[in-house]
Amino acid sequence: MYCGTGRLRTITKKPIIENRFPPLPGRDIGFRYQVRSMDTQYHATLETLERLRAESISAGGPQQKEAQHQKGKLMARERLDLLLDDGSFEEFDVLKLGRGGSLRDEKSYLGDGVITGHGSIDGREVFVFSQDFTVIGGSLGEAHAQKICKVMDLAVKVGAPIIGLNDSGGARIQEGVDALAAYGEIFHRNVRASGVVPQISCIMGPCAGGAVYSPSITDFVFMVEDSSYMFVTGPSVVKTVTHQDITSEDLGGARVHAQKSGVAHFTVPNDVLCLREVRRLISYLPSSNQHRAPILDLSDSPERSDPVLDYLVPGNSHQTYDMHVLIHSILDGAEFMEVHAGFARNIICGLGRLGGQTVGLVANQPAVLAGVLDNDASFKAGRFVRFCDAFNIPLISLVDVPGFMPGPDQEHGGIIRHGAKLLYAFTEATVPRISVIIRKAYGGAYLVMNSKHIHCDVNYAWPTAEIAVMGPKGAAEVIHRKAIYEADDPESVLNEKMEEYRSTFANPFLAAQRGYIDDVIFPRHTRPHLIRTLQVLDSKRTKGPDRKHGNIPL
Ligand code: HXC
Repeated sequence: MYCGTGRLRTITKKPIIENRFPPLPGRDIGFRYQVRSMDTQYHATLETLERLRAESISAGGPQQKEAQHQKGKLMARERLDLLLDDGSFEEFDVLKLGRGGSLRDEKSYLGDGVITGHGSIDGREVFVFSQDFTVIGGSLGEAHAQKICKVMDLAVKVGAPIIGLNDSGGARIQEGVDALAAYGEIFHRNVRASGVVPQISCIMGPCAGGAVYSPSITDFVFMVEDSSYMFVTGPSVVKTVTHQDITSEDLGGARVHAQKSGVAHFTVPNDVLCLREVRRLISYLPSSNQHRAPILDLSDSPERSDPVLDYLVPGNSHQTYDMHVLIHSILDGAEFMEVHAGFARNIICGLGRLGGQTVGLVANQPAVLAGVLDNDASFKAGRFVRFCDAFNIPLISLVDVPGFMPGPDQEHGGIIRHGAKLLYAFTEATVPRISVIIRKAYGGAYLVMNSKHIHCDVNYAWPTAEIAVMGPKGAAEVIHRKAIYEADDPESVLNEKMEEYRSTFANPFLAAQRGYIDDVIFPRHTRPHLIRTLQVLDSKRTKGPDRKHGNIPL
């Protein structure tokens, strides 16, 4: 009977016949066992292993490697070297063999055109796959997909981000329906992993056809300028069906997706910067929905105030200012990772830190379209809010919104549906939520932007805040239409009524009196207020009604 705290083990000194690992020189392993000598067969096995590994590692061959570099693209392994901490990569399935296609004379490759495994970024584990365009165009066959699925499964099991480096001709044509089925397996896992572990896609070459749907389900898409593109149907199909001539770049290049479609969250000039930016993004994120984002102390005092902010908002409410000034002023070290920087620029979304803690910022941008909410802005911010909520990242909104964009384009384009997405996203978010009303907070857009009325936790306003059903001009024209219309000098009556409305409603005091604003703060003290409030909200708990899931108006 053994009752101590040490290890309990009965050691039977029977010979281990098949032991392949001789004891290290000079190391006393505590008991005798019989070591098989380094016989010829064992040597041969080692040589085979070395040969197979070398074959897998250089599968595409030197010419393909040269061609890849000529296109300004790095090789799949070079990319992983840059992405991961030095020496941290552990590769899986280096010996997995492609299954070959259904056509004759098809070569199977070891590794099957994708490198998979795990490694660390700043010491935190991530799972990765990196498609190798030099092997059958990085096309996705059955074995290739099985390798990707394996790391996705493990990432979810252990709770670590998945990073995919995509450079592929799409479904491997020779494998027919099996290649399509393989994509389905990946899509399935993308959806299962959504909201469980962060998923990041880097598009570093072609990504066409149904293959685009895996990255588009993931949380963040990076695209490398001039060497990557994404489209469901390529230029030749476009030509056949619509008779339009268009290049791959104009159809689905990085700039198009970063500025027009919103598919790409980040664009980067080259592979090296892409991988560096992925590392930066990871530094803001938790490893999974069961973790908190890492705390990073940038030695920026939580008490720091900024007198410049007292003068940020112009006296004339028609004048604009750049909301980035406020964002950079309040965040730790002025560091801000903006998401979708080129898309729907009338709203700003991104990650930063306050008191070392990652926060998600959603801010109207008065300098672009006066900060109005339109379809793209609602979609952009709605998705960002949901990401933050899924991954325990507190949300802060900085509000200066004159309303929803009027007009048939927006109405017919679905501003009702899209605006509802943002409303839904903020309302359902259970992470700590703080709002600061900087200037305009008009009508429904005010409600949508994380107002008290949709249960934001703490709402501040600057003295410049104007919280009202609509702007003074619109309001005066509606309420006093008859008086203005019948006056000898309609303009002076309009101005008089506007001023009356402005002094009564366009300030934070009525809302504060009603308790809809928790405090009217001096602009210079915004940062200390936010940090203190984040601390107090840290232990926030909420429990909604039981349900399978809500039905966000997608
Ligand atoms: C098999 C492929 C391939 C594919 C490329 N290759 N794509 N092999 N299946 N899908 C092979 C090429 O035959 C070539 O082999 C090598 O990869 C490099 O390709 P190149 O054409 O020489 O390179 P490049 O000129 O740079 O052109 C890249 C390309 C082009 C634009 C991606 O290869 C291409 O158009 N491929 C087909 C793209 C496509 O239509 N894929 C299916 C999309 S539909 P060799 O032996 O000559 O070096 C799809 C459905 C997914 O993916 C559905 C999910 C539900």
